[in-house]
Formats: sequence, C-alpha cells, structure tokens
Amino acid sequence: MARTLRVGMVGYRFMGRAHSNAWRQAPRFFPLKAHVEMHTICGRNATAVQAARAQLGWQHVATDWREIVESPLIDIVDIVTPTYSHAEIAIAAAQNGKHVICEKPLAMDVKQAQAMFNAAQKSKVIHMVCHNYRRIPAIALAKKMISEGALGKIFHYRARYAQDRLVDPEFPLDWRLQKETSGSGVHSDINSHIIDLGRYLVGEFKEVSGLTHTFIPERPIVDSSGKGHVLGTKTPRKMGKVTVPDSAMFFARMENGALANLEATRYAYGRKNHIEIEINGSKGSVFFDFEDMNRLKYFNGDDPRDRQGFRDILVTERDGIQPYVSNWWPPGHLIGYEHTFVHLVIDFVNACVDGKLTHPSFEDGLKNQQVLHAVEQSAKSGKWAKL
Ligand SMILES: NC(=O)c1ccc[n+]([C@@H]2O[C@H](COP(=O)([O-])OP(=O)(O)OC[C@H]3O[C@@H](n4cnc5c(N)ncnc54)[C@H](O)[C@@H]3O)[C@@H](O)[C@H]2O)c1
Repeated sequence: MARTLRVGMVGYRFMGRAHSNAWRQAPRFFPLKAHVEMHTICGRNATAVQAARAQLGWQHVATDWREIVESPLIDIVDIVTPTYSHAEIAIAAAQNGKHVICEKPLAMDVKQAQAMFNAAQKSKVIHMVCHNYRRIPAIALAKKMISEGALGKIFHYRARYAQDRLVDPEFPLDWRLQKETSGSGVHSDINSHIIDLGRYLVGEFKEVSGLTHTFIPERPIVDSSGKGHVLGTKTPRKMGKVTVPDSAMFFARMENGALANLEATRYAYGRKNHIEIEINGSKGSVFFDFEDMNRLKYFNGDDPRDRQGFRDILVTERDGIQPYVSNWWPPGHLIGYEHTFVHLVIDFVNACVDGKLTHPSFEDGLKNQQVLHAVEQSAKSGKWAKL
C-alpha cells in the first residue's frame, strides 16, 4: 500500500492557488508513489483562510504557520508566502523533520539561503525551490537536447523576462516593491527564474556585470480595501518609497565559457509574461518563448543548406517521447502555466518517497541567490563581480 503524505501549505493567494491546483491534479493524472492529502492551509486571517480552504480544496485551516510545522500529522510544508517569510518557516519545518517545498526566490539574501540549505541538509529532509519553468515540457526537451550534445559547445545564453504591470504609476506599493519584504524587487523576483534556467540549461555563472534601476521611485500605498489603485481619486493619496530595483539586467561569463545576457523588467508594454530564451551552440540553436510555451524552436546547423531554418517543435508527443506530456492529452492538445506546478509536485512527492533529492533543491536556490547578490554588488560598484 502506498503511504500517505499530508501537506500543510502556508499562504493562499497567487501561488497558493497554483500550488493547490497542483496538489489536487497531480494524483489525478500521474501515478504518484504516495497518496497526497491536502491537509491544512494556513493564513493569518481566519475568515479569509476558511474561504480559501473551501475554494481550494483543503481539509483544515490554521492561522499561525507554527501549527503546521509543529503538527505531527504533517509530512510536507509548502511555502507560498512573500520572500521575507521563507527562511523562518522553512528552517522550522526542516528542524521538525518536514519535507519542504518553497517558492522562489529561496530567501532574502545569501546568508538566509545558506541557513535554509544547512537546516534542510542537517535534518535530511527533501527540499525544493519552485522554479517551475524548468518543468515546461519544451524547456525539459531543450535540456535533453543540450545534454545529448545537439547544440554542441554553447556560445550564448540570452534570456529576457519582461512584463508591463509597473508602467502604470498608479500600480500600488506592494510587498514586491519593498526591500524588507522582497529582497531585491524585480531582480530577485523574475531575474531569479532566468538565472535558474541558465544554470539548468547551460551551467554555472562565473562573473557578472550588472545594471539595476528604479524607474518610478514612489507609488501609492494600498489600504486593505485596495483603494490605493483607484485612478482619478479626489482624496490625497499616501505615497511610499520603492526601495528595490524595478528593472535589472546583466552580462555574464559562464564557467563553460559561454557568454550570457539577461534582462528582467516590468516596463515592457505589451509583454505580459514574456520569458524569451535563446541558446546558440556550435551545432545549432534553440529558442523558447513562454507566451507560446508548447513550442520549442530548433535550428540544426547540420541540415542541408538549401532547407535550413528554425524547426517549430510542438512539444506534445506522448509515449515518453517528450518530457511530462504523456499523462495529459493527445498530441496537439496544449497544456499551460498551471501544469508546470503539477510537474514540480509529481517529482517532489516521488523524491519524498524515494528519499532522494530532485531539482531544483535549496542548494540551487542558494547558488541562484549568489548570482543575484553578485549582480547587485556589480551594479553598485560599477565593476564586474566574481561568483
Ligand atoms: N514560481 C512562480 O512562477 C511564482 C509566481 C509568483 C510568485 N512566486 C513566489 O511565490 C511567493 C508568494 O507570492 P504570491 O504572488 O503568491 O504572493 P501573494 O501576495 O499573492 O500571496 C502571499 C500570501 O502569503 C500570505 N502571507 C504573508 N505573510 C504570511 C505569514 N507570515 N503567515 C501566513 N501567511 C502569510 C498572504 O496572506 C497571502 O495569502 C513569493 O515568494 C513569490 O516570489 C512565484
């Protein structure tokens, strides 16, 4: 009989919904090595968390995360709260012998990330940081092709994560725009994802030269009713300081000799969740755009010259031919954002049963944090920073 793993999740908004869906759907589509019980959902507001429990499909509620990390009934702690709270919850969970799955960026800084990795290692629990984009089938296929040598020696990693929601100066001062809650704003929020993809697909970063900027230094403070975002309001609004970069870019040299350029911004009108990756090697190239996430573009330098061009690979082939898609729909029936979290959950649950780490682990989260830090140091000093 498969064992049962009981999950306690802290937080219930954007990522809380994405993770709840993943915990619900994973066993319905994939043969997991354990039964999963969506046991307890935690939030600080008793009424709101009750509503979230009913809507998202959890059995019980808690209003203090300590109830979850200390409960003998819980096996897995899932952390979907803002970045400032990750370390305290994850370390306490690991010390109580719980497996921990934590949203990205892993921590506020390198010191916290190191402490989280140390605690998880010491307690010998399974740990994962949720860089979900690794588990897009097209990205997993690119990884397989690169590992098999289809691209040859890698010359370039080029990545851009662009959104447009901060162009509006009325966008409120949320937790992502404050140093004490987010760490380093857009840099740690979305650059961390393309740093992770660079480390996954190409290799470790060696040295970086960074540039960070804050285009709009003050924004309206939201009250609990969300009124800070109402356009054309007559009452004077309270404004607060944006204390993090809202755009960040960097060049890098990677350990294997590849050159990289990465850009993260929320000032790119028309770009909603644009994650564009291009990798060029001695034998070919791959290109990926998240807003067309079921496809991978592949150029094979060995094709006869009269018919060379980027192939458009629709990554939906089942029977184990392409990664992760076999348990979903027939070829050509596309999957979406939420499926990436389902794939994370499948690998995490199986890792808990096998007692063997899967990726990306807290160590990956720590290495990511080191790159984030080096870019910030370089942006401050105006000099290259080594990892
Ligand atoms: N993997 C991804 O693609 C992705 C996307 C968005 C956000 N994230 C990450 O997920 C995390 C959460 O982001 P979000 O967008 O869901 O934020 P959010 O603001 O939508 O939700 C945060 C939740 O945490 C709760 N919370 C805050 N402090 C708490 C505490 N001390 N105890 C209990 N609950 C607490 C809030 O009430 C809310 O339910 C962040 O680390 C963020 O960087 C990851």
